[in-house]
Amino acid sequence: MAWTTPNDTALTLRQIRADDVALLTAFVGGLSYGARYFRYGRGDIEFTAEEFRHICTPNPRECVHLLVVKSDGAVSTVVASARIVFAEGDTACEVAITVADAWQLHGIGKRLIDALFDQARVRNMTEMHGRILASNRRMIEFMRRRGFAIADSAEGPSLKIARRAILKM
Ligand SMILES: CC(C)(COP(=O)(O)OP(=O)(O)OC[C@H]1O[C@@H](n2cnc3c(N)ncnc32)[C@H](O)[C@@H]1OP(=O)(O)O)[C@@H](O)C(=O)NCCC(=O)NCCS
Repeated sequence: MAWTTPNDTALTLRQIRADDVALLTAFVGGLSYGARYFRYGRGDIEFTAEEFRHICTPNPRECVHLLVVKSDGAVSTVVASARIVFAEGDTACEVAITVADAWQLHGIGKRLIDALFDQARVRNMTEMHGRILASNRRMIEFMRRRGFAIADSAEGPSLKIARRAILKM
């Protein structure tokens, strides 16, 4: 899926590829402490080159990973990353989304979640859920507006669970 923003920036939503290691490394490296904290639970998290290679080559039975890539002439930059993870024998999948700080609240998260629902539906999933830090008000509101129910988690007051059924089309 490709579109152009009101200020003429070309964006493409696509599956992650093995040759995205450098782009993904730059994306994670460029995230603010706060964005990393909300996404990974640690603001100073770093991944090894091997971990990035692993992330860029997901097993399709276990994960669908989508990127939104900005193209500026020959230069590409990742502006968002999102994935759903499947557990064997389970029809519920877990979602995680990260939009680059400068690109938040531009409708990118919404496109990603819609695309992930399409992917989950194709795989006959019946539920999507996400684990959200209770302090992440933006993500909680974002998920609520996308039809997710927000509930307390069994892991204590610092973690919320967002759940939404996936209806067959
Ligand atoms: C949370 C996150 C994924 C949302 O993605 P996004 O691209 O910024 O969101 P979008 O622009 O697509 O949608 C924003 C929606 O959230 C709502 N929203 C929530 N908080 C808002 C705020 N503070 N200001 C304005 N809108 C807000 C908007 O109203 C909009 O919904 P609507 O169109 O139904 O009105 C993104 O901000 C992000 O990556 N945050 C950091 C990492 C993170 O927390 N990831 C989640 C880990 S569990």
